[in-house]
Amino acid sequence: MNQLLPRPRRSVLFVPASNSRAIAKLASLDCDAVIFDLEDSVAPGAKAEARETLRGFFAARGDGGPECVIRINPLASEWGTEDLLAARACKPDAILLPKVDTPRDIHDVDDMLDETDAPPGLRLWIMVETAKAMLNIGPLAEFGRDRAARLDCFVAGTNDLVKETGVLATPDRRYLTHWLMQMVLAARAGGLDVLDGVSNDFRDIDAFSRECEEGAAMGFDGKTLIHPAQIDAANRAFAPSESAVAEAQAIVSAFAQPDNAQRGVIAIDGKMVERLHLEQAERLLTKAGRSRKEALP
Ligand code: COA
Ligand code: MG
Repeated sequence: MNQLLPRPRRSVLFVPASNSRAIAKLASLDCDAVIFDLEDSVAPGAKAEARETLRGFFAARGDGGPECVIRINPLASEWGTEDLLAARACKPDAILLPKVDTPRDIHDVDDMLDETDAPPGLRLWIMVETAKAMLNIGPLAEFGRDRAARLDCFVAGTNDLVKETGVLATPDRRYLTHWLMQMVLAARAGGLDVLDGVSNDFRDIDAFSRECEEGAAMGFDGKTLIHPAQIDAANRAFAPSESAVAEAQAIVSAFAQPDNAQRGVIAIDGKMVERLHLEQAERLLTKAGRSRKEALP
């Protein structure tokens, strides 16, 4: 894990940076993170005003609250450089890069952030949404092992993957599943978090809940959302279950006993438990225990 302390990222809500009304609503929402979008959900003519709206929001932001991330336009686009400088000045928790194809795309942003003396705590998230990113997924994940590279999280960009590859988008996501699983595998190899893609049909919450359950079973840390109505289902599906928390507590307590201090493997309720399970249990408990402390401004 690249971040200093694992934080829950069960529900990660996109909000167009141009939509002041939706932004005003955030304080009342129980999502773990918010992605303020300057890219595809903001019309070309509205980019400058959207940056202004973000400056206002972040200037008033207090401590605590959900993790706040800004998605910029690709650096090579006409808005990229201005977006990056504006985002950096806002002091978000992370900047999300869209349409990343190769490691070069991450290097370029890292270089610009270093040139502006961006704090080391400012992390990078990337959208995995192009055919090239899928082909480069291993080298992209490698950045997770280099703290100076800032990379912290993959976000599956399923709408763009469908658009670019021409696969059929079906309710069971059968033609996307292979790529989604590759993202999870690569993220784990790099010690990164990984978030499932959005579900466009925000009125069908039953179908959405099923997709969240599936995403959790596939190993995603959480889901990206487009509408407040999706938050509760994601929080439920991606929270560790009560039984998982109880099991983790039992593992931590067992290894804390003096008799087990020097042991690498023990038995709990007839099951083998190793120190790797202890690490897993501690991580689960840390994530489960971290919750929002303060509301947004
Ligand atoms: N974040 C915060 N609030 C949101 C929201 C979001 N993503 N989406 C909707 N809301 C708010 C609306 O502002 C509205 O608030 P109000 O009651 O104060 O008027 C309320 O939730 C109900 O919204 P609703 O009328 O059901 O939806 P809508 O027609 O206004 O918006 C979308 C539908 C899809 C356009 C909108 O949800 C949206 O823009 N989502 C994010 C899109 C995005 O960021 N895409 C990029 C990544 S894929
Ligand atoms: Mg996209």
